[in-house]
Amino acid sequence: MLDKFRALRAEHAAVSAAGRDPFGVTFDAVLSATEAVLDGRRVLLLGTNNYLGLTFDPASIEASVAATRAQGTGTTGSRIANGTYDGHAALERRLARFLGRRSAMVFTTGYQANLGALSALAGRGDHLLLDADSHASIYDGARLAGAQVTRFRHNDPDDLRRRLRHLASQPGEKLIVVEGIYSMLGDTAPLREMVAAKREAGAWLLLDEAHSLGVLGENGRGLAEAEGVEPEIDFVVGTFSKSLGAIGGFLASDLDGFDALRLSARAYMFTASLPPSTVASVTQAIDAMEANPHLRDRLRRNGQQLHAGLAAAGFALGAMPSPIVSLPMPDRETAVMFWNHLLAEGVYANLALGPATPGGRPLLRMSVSAVLTPAQIEAAVTAIARVGRSLGLAGVPLAAE
Ligand SMILES: Cc1ncc(COP(=O)(O)O)c(C=O)c1O
Repeated sequence: MLDKFRALRAEHAAVSAAGRDPFGVTFDAVLSATEAVLDGRRVLLLGTNNYLGLTFDPASIEASVAATRAQGTGTTGSRIANGTYDGHAALERRLARFLGRRSAMVFTTGYQANLGALSALAGRGDHLLLDADSHASIYDGARLAGAQVTRFRHNDPDDLRRRLRHLASQPGEKLIVVEGIYSMLGDTAPLREMVAAKREAGAWLLLDEAHSLGVLGENGRGLAEAEGVEPEIDFVVGTFSKSLGAIGGFLASDLDGFDALRLSARAYMFTASLPPSTVASVTQAIDAMEANPHLRDRLRRNGQQLHAGLAAAGFALGAMPSPIVSLPMPDRETAVMFWNHLLAEGVYANLALGPATPGGRPLLRMSVSAVLTPAQIEAAVTAIARVGRSLGLAGVPLAAE
C-alpha cells in the first residue's frame, strides 16, 4: 500500500538531509504567542497565523478552562446527532452580530467550513469559479461538490469575466470563490472588481476571510469591510485558527433558508462539534478582537516594519506589506538551506514548497503577530539579512551591522 509513496519519501529525505526535517519540528515548549523552545534554545515564532496574539489571551484561557469544568472536554458527536450546546448557538449569534450577517454556522475546522460550504452550495450541474491560487480546502470542497470547476488566473478579474462569459449560456448556478488575504504571498483579492464581474454575470460570490478576519477593515471584519463591499458578498467563510487563536471555522450569510445547510453540509453533519473549551475561548476572543482595535494597528505596523527591514536589506519582495511577508527562493535546495540557517539563528519561519505555493515556487514564508515587539522584529530582520547575504540572496549590507 505504501510503496506508492517511495518518490515522496525520497524527496522528503532529501529535504531533511540538509539539516532538520522542516515538516517535523517538535517544540520542547511553546512559551507565548511569539516564542518557543526548540532543542533547549529559545526561538522566535515568525511563521504563525497568530495575528492578534490571542492564543495566550488570559480571558480566553479562563473562559476555556471554566467551560471545560462546567461542560466537559468534548461533545463526543455531531450537532445533528448529539445536540447543540448553548455555547455553539451563542457563538453563532455572536459571530453573526460581529459580521453584521443574519446567519452563521460553525464548523469544527476552517478546512471543514470550505469543504461543507462548497459541497453543499454547488452540486452537479452548477459551476465553481476558483482563483488558481486557492487554498487546498477550497479545491477539496470543489471536488466533493461535484460541480464543474473553472479556474481563473490568480487575482485577475478580466480572466474571471472571460470565463464567466464562456459559461453564460450554460445552466446551473455560478459560484465564484476568492480569498481575502492569500496565505502564501500575503496579497489581497481585487475585491471590488471581482464583485463587478459577479454582478455582470449574475453569479454568487463566496469570500474566504481566513487570513483577513481580525486583520483588515476598521472593525476587523476583513477585506469586504475594508473595500466597502460587504452587501455584495453572498457567503463569508472564516476560521478561528488564526486571529482568534483557537480552532474551528464558520460560514455566514444573509440568505433566506440558510439553516438547510445544516442538513446538507456533510462536513458539518458527520463530524463531532467543537468542544466547549474552544467555543468559549473563541467567543471571548471575538470580544477581545472587537474591544482592542489597537492590536490591528500594531499588526499593521509590525508587518510594515518587517517588510521595510527586508527591503532595506536588499531582498526582492513581492506583495504589499501585510502580516504575511514571503521571500521567493531561487530553488528548493536554497530554500531548505535558508530555512535551516535561519532556525540556527533562532528564527522559526515557514518553509513552503510546491505544490502548496503559487506556481510551485519555493518560498520562505514569514508572518507577524501584533504582540511581536519592534526589537524582536529588528532582531529577526538582522538574522534574515545575515542568512540572505551568506546565501547571496540579499544585496545591501544592513546599516545596523
Ligand atoms: C484561505 C484558507 N482557508 C481555509 C483554511 C483552513 O483553516 P483551518 O486551518 O482553520 O482549518 C486556511 C488555512 O490555512 C486558509 O488559508
